[in-house]
Amino acid sequence: MKTILITGASRGIGRAIASKFASGNKIILTGRNKPMLNDTAEYVKKNGGEPVIIEADLSNPQNVLSLTKSIDITQLDLLVNNAGIAVVEPLAEMTLENWQKTFDVNVTAPFLLIQQLHSIMPKGATIVNIASIASKEGFPNWSSYCMSKFALDGFTKSIREELREKDIRVINIYPGAVATDIWNSVPGEQNLSEMMSPESVAELIYTSVAQPSGTVIEDIILRNLHDF
Ligand SMILES: NC(=O)c1ccc[n+]([C@@H]2O[C@H](COP(=O)([O-])OP(=O)(O)OC[C@H]3O[C@@H](n4cnc5c(N)ncnc54)[C@H](OP(=O)(O)O)[C@@H]3O)[C@@H](O)[C@H]2O)c1
Repeated sequence: MKTILITGASRGIGRAIASKFASGNKIILTGRNKPMLNDTAEYVKKNGGEPVIIEADLSNPQNVLSLTKSIDITQLDLLVNNAGIAVVEPLAEMTLENWQKTFDVNVTAPFLLIQQLHSIMPKGATIVNIASIASKEGFPNWSSYCMSKFALDGFTKSIREELREKDIRVINIYPGAVATDIWNSVPGEQNLSEMMSPESVAELIYTSVAQPSGTVIEDIILRNLHDF
C-alpha cells in the first residue's frame, strides 16, 4: 500500500487523480469543502482505496504548516500539488489581496508541502506539480495566474535538481484547458465541452508515475488536439 497526498482533492482534476490512484492505496485528500471531500472519499473507497480527509485552507501558510504536522504518516510515496485558483482580471483592477492569495495557494503551499514532507519520501517517491500552459505563455487578464504558474515551474525545476540525489522524482504537468469548476471564476462564456476531461490529466499522471523508479518524465504538456 502506497501513501499518496493530493491537494485540491474535493473536485476537478484532484478528484480524478484520487480516483485513478485509489486501488490498494491510502489517499490523503485535502481541500476546504468537507461535503465534496466526502464525495471524493466515496470514489476512493469504491475504487479500492483507503481515504483520509484533512480539511485545510492552503491560502494561509500557517495552515499548510499545520497540515504537514497533522499528517500521521512515516512515509509518503506520492505528493500531488494540485490545488489552485485563478483570479482573472485586468491589470488595472487586480487587487493586492487577490495577487497574494493566488501566490499563496499556487506557489507557497507547494513550496511548504515539499519542504516539510520530502524528508519522509523514500527513494523512488514522486512529486507531481500541476502547473499549466500558463507556466509557459502569457494571456491577457491572467497575469496573476501566469505569475504563479511560472513561479511554480521555476521553483519545482530547481528542487528537481536538489532532490535528484535523494532519488525523488519531480514531474511537472502543463495542461491546456480542462473542463472543471475553475472556469466558473473566469469572465465570459466558456465552452467546457471542447475542453479536456480531468480524467485525461489523471491518466497521464498515472502513466508518468508508473515509469521505472530510475527514470523520470520531467515535464509534460497535455493539450486538446484541436486547441490551437
Ligand atoms: N482546469 C483547467 O483548465 C486547468 C488547466 C491547467 C492547470 N490547471 C490547474 O489544475 C489544478 C486543479 O484545478 P481544477 O481545474 O481541478 O480546478 P477546480 O475544479 O476549481 O479545483 C480546485 C481545487 O483546489 C482547491 N483549492 C482552491 N483553493 C484552495 C484553498 N484556498 N485551500 C485549499 N484548497 C483549495 C479546491 O478545493 P476546495 O474548494 O475544497 O478548497 C479544489 O479541490 C490547479 O492547480 C489549476 O491551476 C487547471
